[in-house]
Amino acid sequence: MASSTPRAATVAGVLVTVVAALYGLHGAAAQLCENYYAETCPDAYDIVKKVLIEAHQSDERIYASLIRLHFHDCFVQGCDGSLLLDSVPGMQSEKDSLPNKGSARGFPVVDAVKEALEAACPGVVSCADILAIASEISVVERTNAWTCRWLLYTHANYIDHPYPSGYFTLLLSSTATGPAGSITNSPPCCRTTRPWLPSGNNTAGLSSGNSGGPSWGVLLGRLDGKTSDFTGSGNLPAPFEDLATLQRKFRAVGLNGDVDLVALSGAHTFGRVQCANVADPPADRLYNFSGTNMPDPTMDSAYRAFLSQRCPRNGDSRVLNDLDPTTPDTFDNHYYTNIEVNRGFLTSDQELKSSPLAQGTTAPIVDQFASSQDAFFASFAQSMINMGNIRPVTDPSQGEVRKNCRRVN
Ligand SMILES: *[C@@H]1O[C@H](CO)[C@@H](O)[C@H](O)[C@H]1NC(C)=O
Ligand SMILES: *[C@@H]1O[C@H](CO)[C@@H](O)[C@H](O)[C@H]1NC(C)=O
Repeated sequence: MASSTPRAATVAGVLVTVVAALYGLHGAAAQLCENYYAETCPDAYDIVKKVLIEAHQSDERIYASLIRLHFHDCFVQGCDGSLLLDSVPGMQSEKDSLPNKGSARGFPVVDAVKEALEAACPGVVSCADILAIASEISVVERTNAWTCRWLLYTHANYIDHPYPSGYFTLLLSSTATGPAGSITNSPPCCRTTRPWLPSGNNTAGLSSGNSGGPSWGVLLGRLDGKTSDFTGSGNLPAPFEDLATLQRKFRAVGLNGDVDLVALSGAHTFGRVQCANVADPPADRLYNFSGTNMPDPTMDSAYRAFLSQRCPRNGDSRVLNDLDPTTPDTFDNHYYTNIEVNRGFLTSDQELKSSPLAQGTTAPIVDQFASSQDAFFASFAQSMINMGNIRPVTDPSQGEVRKNCRRVN
């Protein structure tokens, strides 16, 4: 249902085996299926897609934000739409807990999707399933996006050009003092699939992303839960946590602490992140890492200089940065190539490669995904299905299809 391209069919075919294997581990997951709405709401996928594409026209962050909602929903009490509930007297919602308040976003778009689905097939598609469908669409929509970016790490200055029709010019802004230059006539960056990363300080880099996939057959049939678990939000992996903690939290929800952790972290190939996550305690990698009054020694010095300009000490914690400074809005494997050169933004990103524990566990997977986008895409699709299988509610006595994602019926 995701797409009719041959590639999608291949990926889906490969996944059948994987999913079949999973059924042994998660009994309840066996009740989810790809064609759950085939009879009751056959256009569900296209309806969601239409709303998302419209939303993206005025909100370039929306795709990354929606994946984060699915992730934050699934890790707390399972994929049951619990994150979407508003707080009411007697029940404080997950959305008001520390990991979500002020950073979880996209709720009005979920409302718009729900409204469109209710108009077409009232009372049929759950809010939990909306998040699962929206995540797949979000990845597919950004996979073929092109960005050519000229980066000057030491001058905190860059210019983006979405790929137009073939010819364009990049001009450095007047504040830049790096290697000045302009590029005309369809630069090679938009002709290759290989990234060309900035290789030293004060150098500029051009890079691009492309290629097809990953799409996957989204498993459906979750019901919406009737409660939200404010304190359960502590189960969410936090950006300042070390590898051992991240692995423990993944395993606690039945995911693999190595490959699922590394693959799903790859969603940081797009999206924005507030300065607080790199310049404020307890995540202060720029100024006072682990209370040492020193920067995190694992961070590349040119990248640190770049981030220090954007996130000065005691500056505005809410200023936004790209999680993937190389291709900020493209779904590709540059998240991993950044980590390889010590340009992971969060502690939880760089730990996957730099933690002593990473040797022989997560680091080889980072290496593999950095060198093969196809390997990343295949694992990401599989891990998204695994995540979507976390404790789904399928028993009608335990859940419902909400009419409004913000409140129980
Ligand atoms: C910048 O690069 C040069 C040459 O690679 C190196 O000698 C120097 O230490 C670097 N400076 C910083 C601040 O990284
Ligand atoms: C750095 O962190 C330590 C431990 O949290 C704290 O005691 C110290 O005051 C911090 N230093 C500064 C300059 O804020």
